[in-house]
Amino acid sequence: MQPVDRERKAKDLVNSLAVMIKTAQIHNLNNVSVTNSIRRVLDILNSLVSEDAVTLDLVGEFFHVDGGRVRYSMEYIFNYDFLIREFKKRHLGTIVFEEVLGEDDLRALLTALTQSGFSEKPFEALLEAIENIENIDVRPLKKIKDDAVELDRKKIIKKTYFNVVSLTKSISSKISAGEKVSIKKAKRIMGTIVNQIIEEESMLIGMTSIKDYDEYTYNHSVNVSVLAIALGHRLGLSKKVLTELGLCALLHDLGKIDVPKDILNKPVEFSEEDWKIIMRHPAWGAHAIFKMKGVDRTSISAFVTSFEHHLNYDLSGYPKLRKKFALSLFSRIIAIADQYDAMTSSRVYSRIPVPPDKALSIIVDRGGTQLDPQILKTFINMVGVYPLGSLVMLDTNELAIVFDSNANPDFSNRPRVFVLINSKGEKTRQMVDLMERDQEGNFKRNIAKTLDPNRYKINLAEYLL
Ligand SMILES: [Fe+2]
Ligand SMILES: [Fe+2]
Repeated sequence: MQPVDRERKAKDLVNSLAVMIKTAQIHNLNNVSVTNSIRRVLDILNSLVSEDAVTLDLVGEFFHVDGGRVRYSMEYIFNYDFLIREFKKRHLGTIVFEEVLGEDDLRALLTALTQSGFSEKPFEALLEAIENIENIDVRPLKKIKDDAVELDRKKIIKKTYFNVVSLTKSISSKISAGEKVSIKKAKRIMGTIVNQIIEEESMLIGMTSIKDYDEYTYNHSVNVSVLAIALGHRLGLSKKVLTELGLCALLHDLGKIDVPKDILNKPVEFSEEDWKIIMRHPAWGAHAIFKMKGVDRTSISAFVTSFEHHLNYDLSGYPKLRKKFALSLFSRIIAIADQYDAMTSSRVYSRIPVPPDKALSIIVDRGGTQLDPQILKTFINMVGVYPLGSLVMLDTNELAIVFDSNANPDFSNRPRVFVLINSKGEKTRQMVDLMERDQEGNFKRNIAKTLDPNRYKINLAEYLL
């Protein structure tokens, strides 16, 4: 679609939504003029909805459709302002319209909007009322003050990360208690993390490299999810697909809740019997996902990725297959994220964690056999030759830790580092870019070798947060 066309349609969307709400305030919802106004919105929406969802945001005093500001034109001025007031009245900030919508969906939205206008907690009422509309979602109004500009970016990132951790916890506990889980709610939270990864990739990848959390299982799931989304983003997947991918990644080890704790937390090597049980977690997870509320495309994908995530690219691995088939794209992405995070963490199967750069080289060797070689290439580009958290010895005899692997995309061997110990052996905290040159034009510092951060008991969290 031509940009001019899109702009025109964005204006029409704001206008027709305003007309629809206005008409519903005057007439009964079944009145023919209400139906006509619904159909008008529907026409515009369905011509805008393509591969991705259509997002209508209220930002300050302006509407944005899919991130582009809708201009305030004379012909629409009253309807534009009317819609702003209606949004604000309900603390409504965003409406997301997914896929092709039907008249019923819009009528249900209109009913929800009408009812929530009278509620004491209008946004909560709206949220509840639209819970059963498959293709429409709403988000609360953000106060301008809360915008990223004003708040510390790191705080926001941290908050998002831990929101996803608590989402994971609540999904797991609901499933263990035999309760139903709402995929829709999970999708909404996942949508936030997708947006942040697109904007702040390196900082969120940074969060995944901090491994001294209390609850390994939840953090592992969140880390795999963050890494998978970032990887999927680099592979060019759309936001909507990334949200699905993130959820699948979050649920990949769900089957582990059925593995007895004393096996999972064993301080010694697993016995053959233990392995037999552990190897059933992909199938158990698939079964648990199958029992979730509302089967949709996401839950089907999650079912598949749970089942496939320990199958290798060459179809070795487990569960053992009788017939060969092609692994899904999501499974191939999640396998890489899963193996990398598991290796660099200490709590998986009670092993000593592998330093990030070692983990990377082990994973590189698995390309073409256990892992998809093409996707792996993108992953290596993403985490860098020296992944975040690598401990390095510089040729200046300084000890440093990598904290921005992709600072210099053309020189992947020259990350930005924190010098922890200077050449005199003193403790410091100096941030250094390995691209820095001296007066003759030679690089001031080069990486001489990598070291094992676990042996130096370095708390990465201290430097990243
Ligand atoms: Fe697993
Ligand atoms: Fe895993």
